[in-house]
Amino acid sequence: MNILVTGGAGYIGSHTCVALLEAGHTVMVADNLCNSQAETLERVKQITGREITFYQIDVTDEAATNTVFASQSIDGVIHFAGLKAVGESVAKPLVYYYNNLVSTMVLAKACQKYGVKRFVFSSSATVYGENQVPFVESMPLLPSTNPYGESKAISERMLTDIAKANPDWSVALLRYFNPVGAHASGLIGEVPTGIPNNIMPYITQVAKGKLDKLRVFGNDYPTVDGTGVRDYIHVLDLAEGHVTALDKLTKGVHVYNLGTGHGISVLQLVKAFEEANDLHLPYEITARRPGDIAECYADASKAKRDWGWTAKRDLVDMCRDAWRFESVSKEPSP
Ligand code: NAD
Ligand code: WQD
Repeated sequence: MNILVTGGAGYIGSHTCVALLEAGHTVMVADNLCNSQAETLERVKQITGREITFYQIDVTDEAATNTVFASQSIDGVIHFAGLKAVGESVAKPLVYYYNNLVSTMVLAKACQKYGVKRFVFSSSATVYGENQVPFVESMPLLPSTNPYGESKAISERMLTDIAKANPDWSVALLRYFNPVGAHASGLIGEVPTGIPNNIMPYITQVAKGKLDKLRVFGNDYPTVDGTGVRDYIHVLDLAEGHVTALDKLTKGVHVYNLGTGHGISVLQLVKAFEEANDLHLPYEITARRPGDIAECYADASKAKRDWGWTAKRDLVDMCRDAWRFESVSKEPSP
């Protein structure tokens, strides 16, 4: 299939480009590089030995987006392009709502105009809010504490309505849990700007000596050891989930969790990282981070049952690959 990947130069998008190319698909990327580098796409080509057509455009720009659709024969869209920093979304709600909602609307409109009927959307486990774990796709969504999460829930609702009005469309709403790790080549991985918000890049930067120690946000949650529990999933497993979604997707709108189904605490993650990479990671316990929930992990059975997809890589792979990218690779430069 000919697949348009928005946000394809980013963290999850670039790994998905690798998985798509390796599965034999043709890939076009639309990315404005607001949180990524063009060099990453060169590395995707290096890993796969395949070409990518790159459009440096903002997908909230309707005219620019239509130009891509007019010049290419597109079989499906995977829409990763979005802003994702939760804290920043609280400070700049309009920026987040505009970018994350208008991009989805512009792309859906272009799909309607140019007859593209397969649409895969990057949603997030954040839409479950404080439901009871494990999170199941059928649960009612609870309001998020931040505009980022709301932008994902609203995009899901918009795409659901659009799919209902276009019964020949096939839409997948993929709710990612916590993607970590990197491609085993060490060529592509997560490249946060500034001090990382997410735990794995923070850990790798502590291990590298760029940051002094990890701050563990709270040890008084009702969890196995008091620290926050998350469902960490290797980014390549997540990437492969998108290839499976494209292959298996049927008409209508379908919601799938992409997680492992296993909850891991912060201290368990620290220990696994130390053991996998044979190093010591300094940390201190600090106050809870506002907005964090105690536990977040998937019921991952639906994707397995319907698609035969499960995450294959374990926590050791995630820790080893994340550290390889930080320790041996040269980060792409703008
Ligand atoms: P990322 O920031 O690495 O990638 C997003 C890409 O989209 C970047 O390359 C950026 O330049 C591009 N982009 C943003 N707005 C754009 C626009 N208007 N036009 C064109 N390009 C634009 O983020 P990621 O971690 O790869 O996340 C990809 C998607 O998955 C996002 O929608 C994110 O919200 C979602 N998601 C991420 C996580 C996570 O923890 N990383 C979890 C759940 C969901
Ligand atoms: C994981 C755990 C922290 C940093 C966020 C978004 C979510 C999704 C994924 C996009 C928590 C703890 C963290 C640190 C720590 N993104 N932690 N010290 O918060 O589960 O999810 O990214 O959709 O929407 O909210 O991920 O990696 O920030 O935190 O102790 O320096 O690590 O408290 O328990 P989170 P995270």
